[in-house]
Amino acid sequence: MSLEKSAQKSHFESEYKNYREQAERARKEGNAKKAARYYRQCVEVLQDIAELESSGRLTQERLELAKNLNTAADRLENDQPLVSDETDSESSTGSGSGSGGNEGRPAGGDGDGDEADPSAYLEDPPDLSFGDVGGMTDLKETLKDQVIDPLERPELYEEYNLGVVNGVLLYGPPGTGKTYITEALAGELDYNYIEAQASDITSSLVGEAAENMSEMFEVARDNQPCLLFMDEIEAIAAERSGGSQKTMSESQMITQFLTEMSETKGEDVVVVSATNLPDEIDAAAWRRFDERIEVPPPDATARGAILRVHLRERPVLTDEIEWDQIKERTDGYSASDLEIIASTAARKALKEARASDEVVPITQKHLEMAIESTKSSLEAWDK
Ligand SMILES: Nc1ncnc2c1ncn2[C@@H]1O[C@H](COP(=O)(O)OP(=O)(O)OP(=O)(O)O)[C@@H](O)[C@H]1O
Ligand SMILES: [Mg+2]
Repeated sequence: MSLEKSAQKSHFESEYKNYREQAERARKEGNAKKAARYYRQCVEVLQDIAELESSGRLTQERLELAKNLNTAADRLENDQPLVSDETDSESSTGSGSGSGGNEGRPAGGDGDGDEADPSAYLEDPPDLSFGDVGGMTDLKETLKDQVIDPLERPELYEEYNLGVVNGVLLYGPPGTGKTYITEALAGELDYNYIEAQASDITSSLVGEAAENMSEMFEVARDNQPCLLFMDEIEAIAAERSGGSQKTMSESQMITQFLTEMSETKGEDVVVVSATNLPDEIDAAAWRRFDERIEVPPPDATARGAILRVHLRERPVLTDEIEWDQIKERTDGYSASDLEIIASTAARKALKEARASDEVVPITQKHLEMAIESTKSSLEAWDK
């Protein structure tokens, strides 16, 4: 295989790994539509990888996996349950070399009572920094001022009797980059990282939800400095609407959360939570976050910056792209949509490159076609 081909292949493989992780994460969050979107991306990338495989057998295996993931996407879109091992065929195809960070993680949420160790959630600092985050200038500035700087020189802040921020709540529509910026924050801080979905805590992971939560915080405190990311906080600390009482377990969970947050004060632990539904969060839990930051859909400047992030490792004639036009045409798209637009444009250019057997850079035309074929995920959200 030529060097260029193998570079292309490894690029696609890392793209596949990224999409597959996103899909599994969305599935775990119970977001079937989002999972389906990412499975479809996996399918497209796998088809490209298949074409680059040197042996017929490997090509066949890639295509087989693509077919399975396509079926999984169909089922998810039609609210049908997935046959449990349907999307796991990867390991048996031998193509799972890059199958991502979920390995060794407990399969929380399936309720089979498996005893799992919360420390399995602990990860090394993510390999992401603010340089990988397009736009979001205000948000990055706030995090630098309020979180990073105080943690880096606590004595100075102490001098002025100003505390360190231990709790940050990010809220905003899906796909706007809440998880992504949290990973970049952990990367900037070079902190250990724990990412917990609400379902990891509420499911029968270890025991009761309150106990799971307490263990998760304990792992964070034992592995300082650490960033503990608790996604879907509304499912952990829900406000009860219409005056109905919280169940015993819900109250216990919230009480535990408030206690843990207090105990974390003064430690080298930052708790970041994210939600799409800020109105559904219990008022006391809401107040416990020192910083509550809205993550809105990207504005025009951010849309350009996010696209550039996702195009920067691809052949592209940046100067020949009419960015103003692209920014305007992507109005209403989320950051995750823009990531998909960038890879769709790359795939379109690659198709031409294959036909002409030389590198064809991504141009305005490819981006426009990609925008045309990508639906905004925020449209459904707004309704
Ligand atoms: N500022 C950004 N710059 C570059 N890429 C971004 C940015 N924000 C998000 N992305 C891309 O969009 C993808 C989805 O973002 P992310 O999962 O963080 O959204 P989210 O707000 O957590 O969504 P949800 O509410 O559904 O959990 C990321 O994997 C990343 O590739
Ligand atoms: Mg998220």
